[in-house]
Amino acid sequence: MSRKMKLGVLTGGGDCPGLNAVIRAVVKTALHDYDMEVVGFFDGYEGLVENRYRQLKPADVSGILTLGGTILGTSNRADPFNFPVLQGDEYIYIDRSSQAVQNFERLGLDALIAIGGDGTMAASNGMAEKGLSIIGIPKTIDNDLFGTDQTFGFDSALTSAAEAIDKIHSTAQSHHRVMIVEVMGRYAGWLALASGIAGGGDIILIPELPYQIDVVCDKIKERNRKGKNFSIIVIGEGAKAEGGELVIKRKVANSPDQIRLGGISNQLAAQIEGITTLETRVTILGHLLRGGTPTAFDRILASRFGSEAVHLGYNGIFGNMVALQGNEIGKAPIKDVAGKIRKITPDSSLLKTAISLDTSLGVENINVSSDLELAK
Ligand code: F6P
Repeated sequence: MSRKMKLGVLTGGGDCPGLNAVIRAVVKTALHDYDMEVVGFFDGYEGLVENRYRQLKPADVSGILTLGGTILGTSNRADPFNFPVLQGDEYIYIDRSSQAVQNFERLGLDALIAIGGDGTMAASNGMAEKGLSIIGIPKTIDNDLFGTDQTFGFDSALTSAAEAIDKIHSTAQSHHRVMIVEVMGRYAGWLALASGIAGGGDIILIPELPYQIDVVCDKIKERNRKGKNFSIIVIGEGAKAEGGELVIKRKVANSPDQIRLGGISNQLAAQIEGITTLETRVTILGHLLRGGTPTAFDRILASRFGSEAVHLGYNGIFGNMVALQGNEIGKAPIKDVAGKIRKITPDSSLLKTAISLDTSLGVENINVSSDLELAK
């Protein structure tokens, strides 16, 4: 009798709606299509390094499709190559990747499915180079992963942001105020641009296009002249004024990307009040965008990603991240996507749509192809 194949699965990095839907799809596909065994590691790569895991049976994934968060837990401080270990009052960082390989082998795993963002893909690339059979699944509300047209989690965050902007609209109108809504997204403006369009924002400010404060204020004043005595601004946390700096909320010492953004909208509000004398209020949506039940789109995308990852594993195709390519599920080599960020580029149709809708992007006479700071 041949041995059953055994898969490991982990969720790494910041959480997002749809993680449980992926875990469910992995377990169901593995059991239903191939009679495999599945173990889930706790808290991302931390669980693989520390050998903390549990077997996942059908009962463990029953009823979790619509649940936010991840039943496995996650961590954005668990890079096996730079693993934080508390020594006295301080963390030191050591390479524990060999321990992770040992645990993988001792458990008799045939493949590891790593669900995560750029940090998890970078760690997965390193682990693949050490010989682990890895399949990646792209997750993040930021939608900034290279190699896929969309990550799961983005649509849910976008829906939450658009709902929030809708609510801000009525109070903006009642009080004749300028209302700024700040959304996450790190160095990419996908969430700001998409939610700004969906919520009918008057001004959308994205990290890829440093804004000119006078242009922002002129748009607000022009609206007032036309009798629209309120304005909605949607801004990505990584946006900055022309010649200005990123607003850093904090630094997380033991995280692959230590910088946590947030708060640019407070700076912008002060500038707008100073120049226009109009009352301005700020709402920072922050982690709220990472919570809640996944949208139907994300449930489907997460399910497709999870099933495809298992099919790849069964067929012995490793070292790839499953990806949305157009409307189809394809794959991209992890080595080609690790360490890269997908930003808005001049040919992004979303950007052109915003411009056609007379939305201000905070830049005068925008020339999409030359003004945009291209992805580095
Ligand atoms: O990458 C997802 C994300 O939510 C970003 O949008 C945000 O900048 C960051 O994570 C926040 O991280 P943390 O959970 O460490 O505050």
